[in-house]
Amino acid sequence: MLQLTHLHKSFHESNGSTRQVFDDADFRLLPHEKSLAVVGRSGAGKSTLLRILSGLDQQFEGLYSFKGAPLAQNESEMAAFRRDHVGIVTQRYELLPHRSLLNNVMLGAVSPRTTREDAEHYLDLVGLSDSKRKKVRELSGGEAQRVAIARALVKNPDFVFADEPTGALDEATEDAVLGIFQRLQGEGVRFVIATHSNKVKSVCERVVRVHNYKLVDDPIGKQHHHNQ
Ligand SMILES: Nc1ncnc2c1ncn2[C@@H]1O[C@H](COP(=O)(O)OP(=O)(O)OP(=O)(O)O)[C@@H](O)[C@H]1O
Ligand SMILES: [Mg+2]
Repeated sequence: MLQLTHLHKSFHESNGSTRQVFDDADFRLLPHEKSLAVVGRSGAGKSTLLRILSGLDQQFEGLYSFKGAPLAQNESEMAAFRRDHVGIVTQRYELLPHRSLLNNVMLGAVSPRTTREDAEHYLDLVGLSDSKRKKVRELSGGEAQRVAIARALVKNPDFVFADEPTGALDEATEDAVLGIFQRLQGEGVRFVIATHSNKVKSVCERVVRVHNYKLVDDPIGKQHHHNQ
C-alpha cells in the first residue's frame, strides 16, 4: 500500500510569493486497488501530487510510506524507490528528441536483461512498431505520448504514475491505451492516472479529486452528470 499523510506542499514563485497546493491532504492506494484516477481543475495540483508519489519531488511536508514503511525524503532512497517500483509518464513526456523511439524506450529499462525486443514489444503495444527507428522529433504529439507510455511500461513496474497519458490522443487511440492498461492490471501493474478525461475516469476503480488543497474521494459511476 502507498500512503501519504498530512501532506503540505507549496511552491516559492519567482516573484517571491508562495503558492500553496496542498494543506494537510491525505492519499492512499489500498493493496487491492489497481487503478485510481486523480482529477481536478487545471492548476489544482494533480501533477504536483504525481511527482511526489513517484518520488520525483522530495520538497514537501508529510509522511510518505510504502508497504507500511516510511520512505525517507532523500534523493538516494527515492531514486531506489523509483528504480525498483515505479514507471512514470510525465505531462511533458521528457523524451530525447534526437534519439530513436527504441532508444527512448530502452531508457526506461532498469534490468540489464531488458532487450531491444522487450522495447519493441511495448512499442508494438502502443501501436508504433512501424516507426521504431524514427527519431522522436519526427513524431506527432500523440505518437510521442505513446513512446512515453512504452518507456514507463518496459521495466514492468509495480506502479505506473501517468500524468494525463491520453491527453494528446484521439478517442480510438485512448481506448487502445486504456485497454493496454487494463491488461497490465491483470498482470499486477497498478495505475495512478491524472486526467481530465471522463473515459479514463470511468475505467478507474476509484477517483480522487484535488479540491481546496485537499484530496477527496469522488463519487464514481455514471449517475453523476452535474458537470454536463
Ligand atoms: N515549479 C513550480 N513553481 C511554482 N509554482 C508551481 C510549480 N509547479 C507547479 N506550480 C503551481 O502549482 C499549482 C499546481 O500545479 P499542477 O501542475 O500540479 O496542476 P495540475 O492540476 O496538474 O494542472 P493541469 O490540469 O493544468 O495539468 C499551479 O498553480 C502551478 O502554477
Ligand atoms: Mg498537470
